[in-house]
Amino acid sequence: MADIFGGFKEYSVAEFFKKNRQMLGFSGKVRSLTTIVHEYVTNSLDAAGEARMHPELEVWVEEVEKNERYKVRVKDNGPGIPENILGKALGMMLAGTKFHRYVQQRGQQGIGAAGCTMYSLISTGQPISVVSRHKGKKVSCKLGIDFKKNKPVLTDVVREDCGPEEHGLDVEGVFADTKYEKGGYGVGEYLKRTAIANPHATIIFNSPEGDRFVYPKSVERLPEKAEEVKPHPLGVGANDLLDIAKAAKGYTRLSAMLQNEFTRVSLNKVKELRDLVPDVNLDMSPSRLTWDDAEKLVVGFRKVKWIAPATDSVIPIGKEQIEKSLVNILNPELVYVTSRPPKIYRGGIPFVVEVGIAYGGDINKEGKGGVVMRFANRAPLLFDAGGCAITQTAKSVEWKRYEIKKFDEEPVAILVNLASVHVPYTSAGKQSVSSEDDVVEEIKNALMEAGRHVQKHLSGKRREREKSTKKKAILRYVGQISGDLAELAGEEKSKKEIEAELQKMISERFE
Ligand SMILES: Nc1ncnc2c1ncn2[C@@H]1O[C@H](COP(=O)(O)OP(=O)(O)OP(=O)(O)O)[C@@H](O)[C@H]1O
Ligand SMILES: [Mg+2]
Repeated sequence: MADIFGGFKEYSVAEFFKKNRQMLGFSGKVRSLTTIVHEYVTNSLDAAGEARMHPELEVWVEEVEKNERYKVRVKDNGPGIPENILGKALGMMLAGTKFHRYVQQRGQQGIGAAGCTMYSLISTGQPISVVSRHKGKKVSCKLGIDFKKNKPVLTDVVREDCGPEEHGLDVEGVFADTKYEKGGYGVGEYLKRTAIANPHATIIFNSPEGDRFVYPKSVERLPEKAEEVKPHPLGVGANDLLDIAKAAKGYTRLSAMLQNEFTRVSLNKVKELRDLVPDVNLDMSPSRLTWDDAEKLVVGFRKVKWIAPATDSVIPIGKEQIEKSLVNILNPELVYVTSRPPKIYRGGIPFVVEVGIAYGGDINKEGKGGVVMRFANRAPLLFDAGGCAITQTAKSVEWKRYEIKKFDEEPVAILVNLASVHVPYTSAGKQSVSSEDDVVEEIKNALMEAGRHVQKHLSGKRREREKSTKKKAILRYVGQISGDLAELAGEEKSKKEIEAELQKMISERFE
């Protein structure tokens, strides 16, 4: 028999993503370029958020080879990255400060930045250039990845001292198989939407055509700090439970781990679990937890009556902030924003839905109507709209009922932001939200509320229009009627007097 195992090999996670780059958003030239900017920009915003400062970031996109190769540079004023972790942060897959944490941030997997380094290497053979200023130290280097080992490779390292007032990360790379586009999927639109959802940030974009777009911050107040929360038992599956058990250190008993690593697990609840899942020994070490045990525990979790998780970990953009942003950037005739109270999906994961609707103004200047702007934790989602719960829900609303007859053609823009400690993305590309029932219901309710406001506005406008047409129609006869009446009245009243009186009457009637 032929030896079929001769070619058996192990692959590192970096090698896996090198082969499956589309999973990280590197598919199609336009999308690849936007993905690169997205990864760097979300990191900059996250870092500024954690450091409690107003983000200021500047993006440059420059064409190196026609419609093929672009240089991208993103510079921020955040805390920068210390040298000892710089390599891992930007040159190792599944490494970062956000994985395993239930905290509302844009990044959650520890792949984004290293994915860009990977893309630069596989498309041009070149590493990226990095300058990090952190606590008085400036480090400049070239950064690549050893794919086999999933390890960073740093070269040309230069260390200098800098003043503490200098801080931030400055990354630059050349990426092939990319294309800059002006339309709805391009970097320009992406950054405009980022500015809409982050009115506390200053964002500057230098386009390949040499244009400079400046979106200055429009609100002074920083968003509240997103606090880290512990997972709720109803928000995890067997796989998550095993991950948490593996990562948790210093517990001799599974029961203690459950109490400390999860929210709402009290001593009493542990007792209940013991009765519900007698096969699983809650006194064993968490490191001995098997898949089978984890599955049984998760089934047990579903039978316990839990207190819902606290929802203060979810930070919305805010009604006033969204209103200001939409007015600033779209200059519409009507804006309405609704921020729903926090809810929970899958029984244990808190989230908030915010919906803003804008009508008229500059919205369909480019001839496109019915714009749905999707955001997850303030990051714009531009791709995979078809499979996204937000788009599907927006399309399922009967806009006709709200006086928006042809949604796709009218000057209407909708903003939907889903804020959560864990956004249910459909894939690692993080461009669309999966159809969790509770999330869909919230989006739908918020959209309908927003729709009712547009309806009020539009039906008011329609009535005004009807009134003015009617008034004009009646006024047309005033001259004739006044003449006839003056004739009937003889000497008593002149045509002019009658005309003035009639006009006054009509004006009062149609006030
Ligand atoms: N501009 C930046 N300023 C400060 N730290 C940064 C910056 N960019 C990246 N980092 C650090 O590098 C880590 C890795 O970033 P990366 O984008 O690869 O993963 P992530 O943001 O954690 O998750 P995701 O894969 O979802 O983007 C981050 O967790 C953060 O600690
Ligand atoms: Mg990231």
